[in-house]
Amino acid sequence: MEIVPERNTSVSQLIVQWAYTGIRFALSNGTMIGFLTFLELLIVLRRPDIVDKDNRVRIVSVEEMLGSYDFVIIGGGSAGAVLANRLSENSNWTILLLEGGNDEGVISDVPSLASYLQHTEVDWGFKIENSSTYCKGMVNNQCNWPRGKALGGSSVINYLIYVRGNRKDYDQWEELGNSGWGYDDVLPHFKKAENVSIPDLRASPYHGTTGYLTVERARYKHPIASYFLNASFEMGYSEVDVNGETQTGFMYPQATVRNGRRCSSAKAYLRSTAGRENLHVRTGALVTKILVNETTKTAYGVEFVRENMKYTVRAKKEVILSAGTIQSPQLLMLSGIGPKEHLEEVGIRVILDSPGVGKNLQDHVGIGGLTYLIDPPHDSSTSTLSEVEQFLAERNGSLYDISFGEVIGFTNSRYQ
Ligand SMILES: Cc1cc2nc3c(=O)[nH]c(=O)nc-3n(C[C@H](O)[C@H](O)[C@H](O)COP(=O)(O)OP(=O)(O)OC[C@H]3O[C@@H](n4cnc5c(N)ncnc54)[C@H](O)[C@@H]3O)c2cc1C
Ligand SMILES: *[C@@H]1O[C@H](CO)[C@@H](O)[C@H](O)[C@H]1NC(C)=O
Ligand SMILES: *[C@@H]1O[C@H](CO)[C@@H](O)[C@H](O)[C@H]1NC(C)=O
Ligand SMILES: *[C@@H]1O[C@H](CO)[C@@H](O)[C@H](O)[C@H]1NC(C)=O
Ligand SMILES: *[C@@H]1O[C@H](CO)[C@@H](O)[C@H](O)[C@H]1NC(C)=O
Ligand SMILES: *[C@@H]1O[C@H](CO)[C@@H](O)[C@H](O)[C@H]1NC(C)=O
Ligand SMILES: *[C@@H]1O[C@H](CO)[C@@H](O)[C@H](O)[C@H]1NC(C)=O
Repeated sequence: MEIVPERNTSVSQLIVQWAYTGIRFALSNGTMIGFLTFLELLIVLRRPDIVDKDNRVRIVSVEEMLGSYDFVIIGGGSAGAVLANRLSENSNWTILLLEGGNDEGVISDVPSLASYLQHTEVDWGFKIENSSTYCKGMVNNQCNWPRGKALGGSSVINYLIYVRGNRKDYDQWEELGNSGWGYDDVLPHFKKAENVSIPDLRASPYHGTTGYLTVERARYKHPIASYFLNASFEMGYSEVDVNGETQTGFMYPQATVRNGRRCSSAKAYLRSTAGRENLHVRTGALVTKILVNETTKTAYGVEFVRENMKYTVRAKKEVILSAGTIQSPQLLMLSGIGPKEHLEEVGIRVILDSPGVGKNLQDHVGIGGLTYLIDPPHDSSTSTLSEVEQFLAERNGSLYDISFGEVIGFTNSRYQ
């Protein structure tokens, strides 16, 4: 690497020059880690809007923390951030949000880099148990199971596509006895949450314009996207709003982004509450146990670990568990709530025998690696320095691509 100092250059200009040299080197060698490291540095130096210094979530020190709060929320992810915001609207209540990870960084703001966040410090990096029936193409028959570890949780590492799900699924949940979960019940909440900026949708009865979560089209679209969408028309589908009246059809994605960049639930719901004194947020706090009164079977606090120190905090009203699909049931089990035999087998004192805890995991199928040869509309196989420069200086270009879903659609998988 070479650094050629000019006369009168400041230290920060030198660092910028050095970072450019680094990123040029990383691009020419194809070293992704180097690329991300230097890009991060350049973002810090050149994109104050991403650094967002004035609005970042204020973290309370352990010394500042109270001994008890009205509500203690475990996990500051997609759900936890919303709960912390909404509960702290009532200034009579005190709320503590405990998050195992740290604040989100700057790289996660860059839409096209979403898949590079896995196996970094913002991913718990779980692997599933190996099996003889699935993940057979993987080393030791084990798939990765990414889960976000940061304020914002998995909304910090997800692929940004805004899809609410099918009306009939909600209605079926309601039919199964879950009152309040029918589509007509949840729609007002979706609308309350959303601030859609897509012009055609702002007046739609299915969308909201006053919520914290911004929903936009991608700022950059790969040229191949329109070929793909047009191909769906040739197959007889129409362009639809998959979050609207009918889901069957195709569209360019609606994305949980703001000014083209990731809008995690932490950005949406926590940065906006920076001024609320009744909300304390503590990161790097791994909750290890929910404290449950064995007589009343009521949760009255939590234990958490931070930098090898164990702390206890009490909840006057409620402990809210929003640690995600994997860790919420795990924490219940660690706290003595779960299938009795299993808890006994691993030496956990049973407070409540609840056989369903940890069962009935459901997820969507994901298929990657289907590769096609095409005549490219233009050559965009790798990031070039000019694309980086476009991102840094002009705030547009291919780094704004929602690259995991240029076009999305729903089709009938069953003949009627
Ligand atoms: C790679 C990937 C891509 C995805 N793409 C999309 C997409 O395009 N569109 C879409 O709608 N959805 C997508 N999803 C799914 C979506 O992001 C998740 O469904 C959603 O974020 C889950 O929210 P949650 O609040 O349940 O959990 P999370 O957001 O995961 O929050 C759980 C939080 O709890 C914290 N935590 C866990 N255990 C503890 C503990 N013991 N103590 C303290 N804190 C703890 C975690 O660090 C985390 O912050 C994707 C998910 C992944 C992983
Ligand atoms: C807060 O408490 C005061 C005094 O008890 C009460 O008058 C007020 O309505 C409460 N505010 C909310 C938002 O509940
Ligand atoms: C799971 O992994 C273990 C350890 O590598 C191995 O002994 C076992 O055979 C594997 N089981 C299956 C079903 O692949
Ligand atoms: C919604 O987003 C737009 C930008 O698309 C912004 O100008 C407006 O202030 C936002 N509305 C609210 C209520 O936050
Ligand atoms: C896709 O269809 C639109 C509308 O008919 C048209 O404007 C566009 O050029 C088409 N794109 C391609 C790549 O054919
Ligand atoms: C559990 O609840 C009972 C009944 O309300 C109470 O007497 C006891 O002190 C509680 N125990 C703890 C550890 O809070
Ligand atoms: C990117 O932004 C610059 C400056 O605003 C503008 O001149 C240029 O046309 C934009 N390019 C694209 C591809 O939108």
